[in-house]
Amino acid sequence: MTRLFKEVFYGGLSFIVFDGVYEPAEDTFLLARNLSVSFGDRVLDVGTGCGILAVLAALKASYVLAIDINPHAVRCARENAHRNGVLDKIDFICCNLLSPLRRRQMFDLIVFNAPYLPEEGEPRSWLERAWYGGVDGRKVIESFLESFSDYLKPGGRLLLVQSSLSDVEKTMLMLRGMGYDAKVADVAESFFETITLISAIKLDVEPH
Ligand SMILES: C[S@@+](CC[C@H](N)C(=O)[O-])C[C@H]1O[C@@H](n2cnc3c(N)ncnc32)[C@H](O)[C@@H]1O
Repeated sequence: MTRLFKEVFYGGLSFIVFDGVYEPAEDTFLLARNLSVSFGDRVLDVGTGCGILAVLAALKASYVLAIDINPHAVRCARENAHRNGVLDKIDFICCNLLSPLRRRQMFDLIVFNAPYLPEEGEPRSWLERAWYGGVDGRKVIESFLESFSDYLKPGGRLLLVQSSLSDVEKTMLMLRGMGYDAKVADVAESFFETITLISAIKLDVEPH
């Protein structure tokens, strides 16, 4: 019989990955190993996939909101929250980026392992949306950058994963222009790209 899911292990926990859902990879683990959550934090996991980052965050956070455009991912993430005993701390929404969120919902930490690969045309499946970044790899990243700050508390932190193929420096400049203290926190070398984790803290003062 064909199994309709895989199983992935990380940090002593087990996660199932449904067909059509992104399987945790180097980019996921880059973010996971730098995921510092304080007790009581409110965390937003954008593009949750199988929910691995949401579940890890929920081990300390008081509340996690996990969102994904892929309905299979949202079902899968809910299953993994249940499996790992943190279902009561996580809400799930199937949506396009932050479109349905209420402005008053504020977070201490926002994480996004973004789709960042340059590709022509349109994504042909839910799974392809996991890496599809449009012609320059920045389509989803730039839409996200337009709105995420409305949901981050002053002093809060963004952890964003993207690739050297989709202009990391441009993202850093945009974040600094928005009043963020942005730096490259960690990288993972792959054979054709450098996967980069950007950490950006929202400064309490307006940029000049
Ligand atoms: C690289 S995968 C990361 C999955 C998971 N967070 C991980 O690290 O393994 C990117 C995820 O973003 C989701 N995604 C892509 N475009 C999105 C959008 N416009 N709004 C919400 N989620 C999106 C994809 O469906 C996919 O699950």
